[in-house]
Formats: sequence, C-alpha cells, structure tokens
Amino acid sequence: LLSYPYYGEHQGGIATPPQNHLVFTSFDVRATSAVELQLVLAKWSAAMAEMTAGRPVGKVEPTREHGIPVDTGEVFDTGPQGLTLTLGFGPSLFDGRFGLEKFKPLNFDDLPAMAGESLNPAYTGGDLCIQACANDPQVAYHAVRNLARMARTQVSTKWTVLGFGRASAGPAQKTPRNLLGFKDGTRNVSTPDDFAQHVWTGKEAGQPWMEGGTYLVARKIHMLIETWDEDTIGDQQSIFGRTKQEGAPLSGKLEHDVPNFHATEGNDPLIPADAHMSLVAHENNGGTKVLRRSYNFTDGLDSVGRLDAGLMFLCFQKDPEQFVKLQRKLGLSDRLNEYIRHVGSAVFAVPAGLPEAGNYYGKEFF
Ligand code: HEM
Repeated sequence: LLSYPYYGEHQGGIATPPQNHLVFTSFDVRATSAVELQLVLAKWSAAMAEMTAGRPVGKVEPTREHGIPVDTGEVFDTGPQGLTLTLGFGPSLFDGRFGLEKFKPLNFDDLPAMAGESLNPAYTGGDLCIQACANDPQVAYHAVRNLARMARTQVSTKWTVLGFGRASAGPAQKTPRNLLGFKDGTRNVSTPDDFAQHVWTGKEAGQPWMEGGTYLVARKIHMLIETWDEDTIGDQQSIFGRTKQEGAPLSGKLEHDVPNFHATEGNDPLIPADAHMSLVAHENNGGTKVLRRSYNFTDGLDSVGRLDAGLMFLCFQKDPEQFVKLQRKLGLSDRLNEYIRHVGSAVFAVPAGLPEAGNYYGKEFF
C-alpha cells in the first residue's frame, strides 16, 4: 500500500521510482474564460491530493438514493498503490485565450519539426497533461478518469497512452526491458547532483512557478516489431551498442560497465559510432543528459493485423532544448530508425510541487 507524498518541492512521478503502469493523457481546454480554467486547476489539485493518498475524490455511495456518485468507485479498496499524478501545461495554454501570455516560460514552444518523424495530429500536443503512474493499472486509470469527469464541460481529452510495463530504471531499481528485448534505463539520471544539473528548472525559465519544475517531453514511438523480430542478434546488438541478455556495452562485460567509445578491434570501434547509445551518450554531447521515464505500450493490432505497440518515451529536463539536441542526432543517424516511428509528440511545462494544502497548480496565473 505504498504511497508517495503529494505536497513537496517537486511534483511526484519525476524523481520518484518509476511504478509499473502508466496512463498518460493530454487534454484541450474548451473553456474560454480564465475563471473556468482556474476552477479546473483548483479542483484537480485538490482531487490529485486525495487520490495520491488513496482516498476517493468524493462519495462513492451518496446518502440520497437519487444522488450521483462523486467518485466512480473502482479503486475504493485498493489503497494508493504508489500513485503519482504529474500535471503539465502545454505551450498552447499561454497563447492568449486566458490572458496568460506573461506567464509563459522563456524558450517554451512546440517542439520543432525534426528529421524522421511521422507525427499523427491525433497524438500531438495538448493544453494540459496528466501523467498517472501506479503499481496497479486500475488506480492510474481511475485517477485520469475522475479528473476528466470532474472537468468534463471545461476540458476534453485529446490523446491517451496506456503503458503496461515500465521501460526505465530509477535509482536502485532493476533495469526493465523494452519491447525490443533490451534493458532500458541502464545509464539514466540518478544522483541528486544530476537532477539539480539536468532536470530541475531554475531561474532560466524566467518564471518563479517553474523554479523546481521541469519540462516533460512525450513521444509516442511505434515499433515495427515484426521487422525487428527477423533481425539477427549481431545487428540488434550493434544498433544499441549493448548486448541483449546482460545489457553490457559492447566494450565491456557487465551491464554497468562504463562504455568505452574509443575501444577498437582492429580498426573498428567496439561500439559503433552510429549505435543508439553512442549518439545520445553524454560523453558525446557536451555533457547533455535527460531523465528517461518511459513505458511500453500496446494499442492491440493495426488495420492489417500487425502488432501495434512501442515505447511511450517520456523524459524530463530543465530545458526542452536538451531533448531536441539529442533527438536531432537520433533523427539523422540512429540505425534504430529502421525499426521505429515517432508518431506522437508533446512538450509540457511541469510546475514545481505544491508546498501544502490550500495551494493549486497555476495559482500564480490568476
Ligand atoms: C539508451 C532504447 C528512444 C535517449 C538506450 C538504451 C536502450 C534504448 C536499449 C541502452 C540502455 C540504457 O542506458 O538505457 C530506446 C528505444 C527507443 C529509444 C527502444 C525508441 C523506441 C530514445 C529517444 C531518446 C533516447 C527518443 C532521446 C532523444 C537515450 C539516452 C540513452 C539511451 C540518453 C543513454 C545513453 C548512454 O548514456 O549510454 N535507449 N531508446 N532514446 N537512450 Fe534510448
């Protein structure tokens, strides 16, 4: 019955260890007045506190026979299950509809178009997002369902991804595997120093509400699973620069051996220069790092019966430019591109945590 504190310096679901399940949902605000938006943010913030603690958002059984249940009830007796709810604001929220232009963080816009993406507008953008993570999928789903329900006339759901297994490791967690069969999250941001340097936003956003916040980049990445499954092990390993079973860098033996990008066999580098890992490693990018917190997803089968599945890539960074810098390199040269398609994309400014009850996300805007 694990639970994480809701109030604190940072929102949950970022530095907290990745739970097993994800429901990520992006929303459009249909309301046209700032007051309506304010009401949604205040209601959501309070409801998020209740659900994080494992409590319903209101009565499951109203006292009056004719009453409609406030909480939908499907997790009434599950406990919190390590639920974290992370709220983000999309760039479009600051476009002028609500008079919030002056609260827009510096350098915060939709991500630029990048090589190799085939984005579907149905999985792109959003004014608000909720990342719900929990160890019971029904608890994560209930949270998004109830938030959507209580704001139904002001906010509409835009796109959603159900992640069925974590594909990233936090500190002290065993590294899980993505659907290509490789360990994912071996070298991830983990120390407090790394978080301070690469993840938590400070004064550079030009907005006090972002100090202690971060930016979330969400990429829905489809995998061409049938094609991948016909590839040889040698090719698969050189695509990532790591072995499949152990997850060791091709220059070493064990998963956590530090990769040596200069090690050679004859004239060839042991880790190919165009391996996924080589392209994005901090050693080869002037120290740039992002916190990855991704999930495996499936949407069942596509229209011709192929497995429709992939990676809901989620990463956190103090400036969206960190992601853009890495993805620009991947988009041009990653040998993995033959087996994946970026079909969805969004970026959100994730405000700092709420200090205590009585506050709500976006309070500074109104
Ligand atoms: C490392 C898989 C997309 C950034 C890795 C590793 C795997 C992997 C297996 C090696 C183990 C590890 O250190 O975690 C994938 C798959 C992807 C994908 C299957 C798409 C379906 C991306 C994207 C980015 C990214 C879009 C960011 C732009 C990184 C970084 C590392 C990494 C920064 C660590 C490199 C290092 O420091 O050694 N990825 N990845 N990945 N990936 Fe990805």
